[in-house]
Amino acid sequence: MRRFSVGNLMLAVLFFVGAFAGTVAVGESKPNSGAPHKPAVNPADLVGAETCATCHAEIATKFASNAHSKLALEHGGKGVTCEGCHGPGREHVESGGDATKLFQFSKESAKEIDGRCLSCHAGNHANFERSTHGSAGVSCTSCHSTHAAKSEEHMLKVAEPELCYGCHTDAKASFAQPSHHRVNEGLMKCSDCHDPHGTFEDKNLKAAIDENAVCTKCHAETAGPFVYEHPPIKTEGCTSCHFAHGSPNPRLLTRNNVNSLCLQCHSASANFTAPGTPSFHNMGNQYQACTTCHVQIHGSNASNVFFK
Ligand code: HEC
Ligand code: HEC
Ligand code: HEC
Ligand code: HEC
Ligand code: HEC
Ligand code: HEC
Ligand code: HEC
Ligand code: HEC
Ligand code: HEC
Ligand code: HEC
Repeated sequence: MRRFSVGNLMLAVLFFVGAFAGTVAVGESKPNSGAPHKPAVNPADLVGAETCATCHAEIATKFASNAHSKLALEHGGKGVTCEGCHGPGREHVESGGDATKLFQFSKESAKEIDGRCLSCHAGNHANFERSTHGSAGVSCTSCHSTHAAKSEEHMLKVAEPELCYGCHTDAKASFAQPSHHRVNEGLMKCSDCHDPHGTFEDKNLKAAIDENAVCTKCHAETAGPFVYEHPPIKTEGCTSCHFAHGSPNPRLLTRNNVNSLCLQCHSASANFTAPGTPSFHNMGNQYQACTTCHVQIHGSNASNVFFK
């Protein structure tokens, strides 16, 4: 950090206030709509990013490639700079760097931090405080870092899935199972199915209507409608037969062999509306692998028993 004499500093401050104060608008930005926490700011208390840079050169240099300042540049300097997040800097600068005169992310509660970020981002993440993360005190800065992001994309502290595994060790174990969605291989992300900022669905799922929508956006062939539906797919959902993350069984199935999966419902003893398997299904080897004959198990337009 460079130190300035008070004389130099005051000159710099006067200069930069004149040159930049008018262009630093706290809370003024595109994603803003109905912002609940917008702080009231006296323009005279703003010193401008270039003043901050005189003492925080390293942070300021890195910040030039940050999504926040890229936009600032594109919009003729009317975007987000240091004081948009840290608050007006005049007192901090005049005191020679008294940290308590600023919004200190390291000292504030999760709620205060979220409020600060949401003063601009309420438009896209309005429900965050009600989400499982927001209400559990997992704040924006648990996942995002403005100055030390390890992932270029979305300024994440660490890229997915490591970011999520850091707290969700159960999920890590599931995706290590023999049959799994290839998240660790980089073909999919947790956020293909979940929105970490919250949704109106259970488990932060992105699905618009029901759980199947989360699956059928990629597995459209299972969505139907079919002339002959297999009812549990619509009534109980994909996860009545498949795990979403990973499984020790092939095809992400919840049971280790297909017949025990089917017989959960299709046996005389099962307490379901499903018909029992016909008596000629003698459960010899031939009949064990139900889906060798009942191939179109997700539904068929040709066969009421889901043959090819
Ligand atoms: C005169 C030099 C100087 C200028 C100009 C300056 N700072 Fe600082 N700043 C410091 C010093 C010194 C510290 C360390 C204070 C400490 O560790 O207690 C500091 C600490 C900080 C911190 C850390 C607070 C924390 O969480 O611990 C932030 C954030 C910060 N400055 C932001 C800014 C911003 C934003 C600006 C421009 C509005 C700015 N500074 C301008 C000297 C300066
Ligand atoms: C988008 C909001 C945002 C903007 C804009 C922003 N900061 Fe920060 N700043 C943070 C957050 C959040 C932290 C806490 C550490 C982190 O998440 O990287 C922080 C931490 C700091 C710190 C404490 C040291 C550290 O790395 O923890 C300093 C100093 C600082 N910022 C200075 C600046 C300066 C100078 C600028 C302008 C060049 C600036 N900040 C712009 C959000 C912002
Ligand atoms: C003063 C308004 C403002 C504040 C405060 C603010 N942001 Fe931003 N943020 C923006 C703007 C403007 C953009 C760039 C436009 C966009 O991508 O929507 C942006 C971009 C981002 C992006 C990158 C989007 C992408 O797709 O790469 C992330 C992540 C982000 N902000 C997180 C945060 C976090 C976390 C905080 C609090 C520490 C915060 N912002 C505080 C206005 C703000
Ligand atoms: C649990 C981790 C987590 C938390 C907490 C979190 N984010 Fe994010 N955020 C992500 C991930 C992962 C992405 C990229 C994937 C995506 O868009 O869903 C992202 C993307 C974004 C984006 C860019 C894309 C978009 O949807 O607009 C912005 C802006 C953003 N976050 C802001 C915030 C703000 C503001 C907060 C706090 C109110 C916050 N995030 C809290 C993980 C998180
Ligand atoms: C800083 C820790 C932390 C990080 C990082 C984190 N989470 Fe969470 N997550 C939590 C906490 C705490 C809860 C709420 C308590 C719970 O249900 O486990 C939660 C809840 C959830 C839930 C809802 C669970 C339920 O039973 O309703 C999902 C889904 C989730 N997180 C997904 C993610 C994803 C995806 C990521 C990465 C983008 C992520 N989390 C990153 C801590 C974290
Ligand atoms: C293919 C879509 C999909 C992907 C990818 C995905 N999830 Fe899930 N996740 C789900 C579904 C569906 C549920 C609800 C399962 C249920 O209720 O039976 C769920 C449940 C959860 C839960 C709640 C606890 C539980 O196991 O029921 C957490 C936490 C979670 N996921 C975290 C993650 C993390 C972390 C990642 C990335 C490493 C991830 N998910 C990737 C679909 C997905
Ligand atoms: C983002 C796209 C995407 C989403 C969403 C998605 N899947 Fe997949 N799924 C794939 C891809 C790609 C494959 C096959 C490639 C691979 O991973 O080997 C696959 C494979 C499968 C398999 C076969 C696994 C095997 O071992 O052959 C099953 C079963 C499956 N998904 C069920 C689901 C269920 C249930 C959901 C909803 C919880 C879901 N998928 C959501 C992309 C997706
Ligand atoms: C009644 C149980 C059941 C339900 C409900 C179910 N599946 Fe399946 N699914 C299976 C079985 C059994 C297989 C394995 C077929 C085989 O081995 O030939 C399978 C295989 C798959 C495959 C692997 C490719 C293929 O077609 O063989 C995908 C992908 C898949 N299911 C997705 C889904 C999705 C998405 C849903 C929800 C819309 C869903 N499944 C609901 C039983 C079910
Ligand atoms: C969660 C319960 C459930 C599971 C698991 C299940 N089914 Fe079904 N299945 C049903 C119901 C309910 C019906 C509809 C019965 C009706 O229409 O009267 C049905 C219908 C059928 C039919 C058509 C019967 C007819 O006469 O229309 C066949 C064939 C069938 N299932 C085979 C399977 C096979 C093979 C599996 C294993 C891969 C399986 N089912 C798993 C509940 C289930
Ligand atoms: C070798 C081929 C074959 C295998 C393997 C097979 N089935 Fe069938 N299944 C049939 C035939 C043939 C029918 C009668 C079709 C018809 O009536 O047109 C049938 C009918 C059914 C019906 C409809 C009964 C009704 O009353 O409508 C159910 C349910 C059923 N099978 C379940 C199963 C289950 C569960 C398994 C695995 C344990 C299985 N099947 C394995 C050939 C097979």
